[in-house]
Amino acid sequence: MDTRPIGVFDSGLGGLTAMRELARILPEEELIYFGDTGRVPYGGRSPETITRYARQDVAFLRSFDPKAIVIACGTVSTTALEVLRRECPVPIYGVVEPAVQAAAQCTRTGRVGLIGTKATIRSGAYERALSALRPGAQVEARACPLLVPLVENGRYQPGDPVVERVVAEYLQPIREAGVDTLVLGCTHYPLLKPVIASYMGEGVALVDVGAQCAHWVARSLEEQGLRARRDGEGPRRYFVSDATGDFPALASAFLGVDVAGAVEWVDITAY
Ligand code: DGL
Repeated sequence: MDTRPIGVFDSGLGGLTAMRELARILPEEELIYFGDTGRVPYGGRSPETITRYARQDVAFLRSFDPKAIVIACGTVSTTALEVLRRECPVPIYGVVEPAVQAAAQCTRTGRVGLIGTKATIRSGAYERALSALRPGAQVEARACPLLVPLVENGRYQPGDPVVERVVAEYLQPIREAGVDTLVLGCTHYPLLKPVIASYMGEGVALVDVGAQCAHWVARSLEEQGLRARRDGEGPRRYFVSDATGDFPALASAFLGVDVAGAVEWVDITAY
């Protein structure tokens, strides 16, 4: 039993897809979220910049003495996971391995679609991990750089013509490739799930990498005897690196609970 918090980070709102699932399946845990809203998006940046930002994100979360850190970000998980793990004594979880396990279990045909940020697709990390688990799998991958800014601006509702148009343009070649599974390789994308699901059609399973990672973390803490036991729900805190702005409203809408009073600003450049 270990009541220390779990730290979770992303460049912005996307990691809330992991946070929401963590809060659902591990209600008694203390959860601390950091969204680097002052520097989002990460996905178009160089590996050096992404790694530098991620080091600061990890250093900030370490100031809470966490028992685990969750990189709820496909971009950081595919670009900087190894270096962060080498440098940090706290266990660090990324989204790739859990997502790829889920995709390997879902696919019947071995034809898998992958969407992510430019940095994620450039890294080839999901493809490498999938071909280790499912040799011969064919991955149809596509970078979707406009999706993160749309989500960060609260534009992810079905019926929004701009969103529908952008999603269709990115996903057309993946749908035409006849995949039966689509990995939403960026944690922002599950907010677009209804739009993506309706474009891809019923026969295509969608893998939510943040939610998969949350289940992986829960299993791992359980196996190590590190789950917190307390009466009632653990504390939740949210930090952002820009003026809190739209974050409290968007986060509350997505999480289904009012988190406005729990959002604080942090100067991430000080870490
Ligand atoms: N949510 C992120 C990811 O999973 C980051 C997106 C970005 O900042 O570009 O890749």
